[in-house]
Amino acid sequence: MRPPRGRGGGRGFGGRSDGGGRGGGRGFGGRGGRGDRGGRGGGGGRTPRGRGGRGGRGGGMKGGSKAVVIPHKHDGVFISKSKEDALCTRNMVPGESVYGEKRVSVQNEDGTKVEYRVWNPFRSKLAAAVLGGVDNIWIGPGKRVLYLGAASGTTVSHVSDIVGPEGLVYAVEFSHRSGRDLVNMAKKRTNVIPIIEDARHPARYRMLVGMVDVIFSDVAQPDQARILALNASYFLKNGGHFVISIKANCIDSTMPAEAVFAAEVEKLKADQFKPSEQVTLEPFERDHACVVGGYRMPKKQKAT
Ligand SMILES: C[S@@+](CC[C@H](N)C(=O)[O-])C[C@H]1O[C@@H](n2cnc3c(N)ncnc32)[C@H](O)[C@@H]1O
Repeated sequence: MRPPRGRGGGRGFGGRSDGGGRGGGRGFGGRGGRGDRGGRGGGGGRTPRGRGGRGGRGGGMKGGSKAVVIPHKHDGVFISKSKEDALCTRNMVPGESVYGEKRVSVQNEDGTKVEYRVWNPFRSKLAAAVLGGVDNIWIGPGKRVLYLGAASGTTVSHVSDIVGPEGLVYAVEFSHRSGRDLVNMAKKRTNVIPIIEDARHPARYRMLVGMVDVIFSDVAQPDQARILALNASYFLKNGGHFVISIKANCIDSTMPAEAVFAAEVEKLKADQFKPSEQVTLEPFERDHACVVGGYRMPKKQKAT
C-alpha cells in the first residue's frame, strides 16, 4: 500500500493546470477551515438555505462565456476556475441543485450550455479525499457503484453526476428520515436506486442490486469493515474496488487515530481486500481517513 499521505489539503488544488493538484486550501477556507461551515452551499460562500434548499434551484452562477471549467485528473470530476477555484461535477439535472450548492453554467462556442454543481469537501468525504490527492477513486463515467451510508444523498448526487447516464448508483441508507430526501433526490436522477435498508443485511436487498465495479462506504460504524466485506461478498466483482471513509472515534475513541486506521486496514486485508492507498481527510474532517483498494485481485502472473 502506498504510504499514507501527510496532512494533505493545505495546498490550493487549482494551482496546477492539469487539474491533478491536491489539497483544498483555496475556495473552502483552507487549513483550519473545518469550522467554517459557511463552506456549506459550496464555492466557499454561504448560500441561503431558504433559496437553495434541498431539491431547490440553488445558487446558479451565470458563468456565461467567462466561466472556465477544466477537467480534474479523475474522469467525471471538474474544477471551476474563478476567484476561488471549486471542485465540481457535471449536473445530470441542469437547473436543479440538490442541497443548495452553487451551479456554474458554461456556454460552448456553438451556443450550447453545460451546467456544473460545486462539490463541497466540507459536505462530502469523497470530495475531501479527491482534494486530499487520492490517486484513484475508481468511480468514473459508466461505472456501477454501491454506496453504503447514503444519508440524504449529498455525495450520492455527485457520484450520480460522475457515473452519468450510463452508470448506476445503488444507494443504501437505513435512516428513514434521511431516506426520504434520498428517495426524492433519486426521482430526478434515473441512475440512482435508493434502498432504505440496513447495510448489515445485504440479503434483504440482493434482489435490487446487481454486481458492481466499486463500493463506496461511509457508514461511520464500529463494524464498518465487516459491513463492507459482507456487501462485497454479495455484490463486488472480483478485481473491483472499494473506497472507505474511516472516522477514527467511531471505531475507538481511546486509540490514536493512526492506530485505528492501521487496525482497520488489517481487518480489510483479512477479508480479501487489497488496500493500495490512504489519504487523510484533513483539513475538511478531523481524524478521518479514506482508504482505497482492490477486491479479490487477480494474482500477478510470474514472468517466465
Ligand atoms: C457519515 S453519514 C453519511 C454521509 C454521506 N455519505 C454523505 O456524504 O452525504 C453516515 C450515514 O450512514 C448511515 N448508516 C449507518 N449505519 C448504517 C447501516 N448499517 N445501514 C445503512 N445506513 C447506515 C447513517 O444513517 C448515516 O446517514
